[in-house]
Amino acid sequence: MKNGYERFVRPLLFSLDAETAHRLTITFLRAASKVDIALRALTVFQPPPKPKTIFGLNFPNPIGLAAGLDKNGVALPAWAALGFGFVEIGTVTAKQQSGNPRPRIFRFPERQALINRLGFNNDGADGVAERLGKLRQRGRWPAVPIGINIGKSQVTPLEDATTDYLYSFRLLRDFADYIALNVSSPNTPGLRELQQPAALGNLLRAIRDENREQKPVLVKIAPDLSSNELDAVIAACEHNEVAGIIATNTTLDHSAIPLSHDQPGGLSGAPLREKSTTLIRDIVRRSRIPVIGVGGVFDGESALEKIEAGAQLLQIYTGYIYRGPQLLAEIMETVS
Ligand SMILES: Cc1cc2nc3c(=O)[nH]c(=O)nc-3n(C[C@H](O)[C@H](O)[C@H](O)COP(=O)(O)O)c2cc1C
Repeated sequence: MKNGYERFVRPLLFSLDAETAHRLTITFLRAASKVDIALRALTVFQPPPKPKTIFGLNFPNPIGLAAGLDKNGVALPAWAALGFGFVEIGTVTAKQQSGNPRPRIFRFPERQALINRLGFNNDGADGVAERLGKLRQRGRWPAVPIGINIGKSQVTPLEDATTDYLYSFRLLRDFADYIALNVSSPNTPGLRELQQPAALGNLLRAIRDENREQKPVLVKIAPDLSSNELDAVIAACEHNEVAGIIATNTTLDHSAIPLSHDQPGGLSGAPLREKSTTLIRDIVRRSRIPVIGVGGVFDGESALEKIEAGAQLLQIYTGYIYRGPQLLAEIMETVS
């Protein structure tokens, strides 16, 4: 049976272009974040608490908002009020950038999927740091862990990527409970090459040397890595004291989408579910590094599958677009 969001809100949002619907939602949640009564109203969707401590952080429940939905961190109080156990903002890049030309987000309702090629449109590390500073000053900082996901600016050559990540890391670390290094978006040319052993080793070493406060640093990886590539990523993470792996980003495997409707970009949602669960299982078999599982979580069953594969925490993006705010309580009923 459809929930209230699926019956009444989704048809309205889906009658709009995907990015317009996203903008509208973010505008609403941004406004709600400033008004106590509105925040209180959003708490009706909160699942009962199921606390968990990992990376030295206390999570009220294991389900987080995945990176990309609130790239600029404009609605942190609203996400917390809705019941997310943690929120990952970003991807933030050193330089502000507008991303690829629109349209750049596409829905495939019959497949419960999205394809996006946004290309890291965001306000830049300086802009986001300023916004987060104000939020803290005003005493509206949420009570759940906040992750900040950072990536490479489009104009920065791949060989200078480390400098770019370091810039964002220095500016944003004080606001983050953990930092996620995104080396897996398919929409910034060359970015996924940073998963190769030498490049990843350089990046992780540089961040580790800078990380005097020992903030948990996580690495977000692609679902399209081969077994050998995964081994190399795990080795680099273990060698450089990476706190956790976020598995996975969107996939370049579009076999679930009819050719006539296909679009360049990263595919997320139901067709990614199995691929990302398999990768989680592979990581957990090979390493003791904690994993945050993400990709195609749409209901209790798909969430449980990732927890049984060994994920310590979960994140959601596409499932939330299709299933709405009741999804968190629905999942927690199954996984509790
Ligand atoms: C429109 C859109 C934008 C995204 N932007 C980012 C991003 O900026 N950084 C990132 O690390 N992941 C980004 N992602 C990937 C998600 O965080 C997540 O890893 C992926 O979509 C798989 O989860 P899902 O199937 O629950 O959507 C984006 C996904 C979508 C659909």
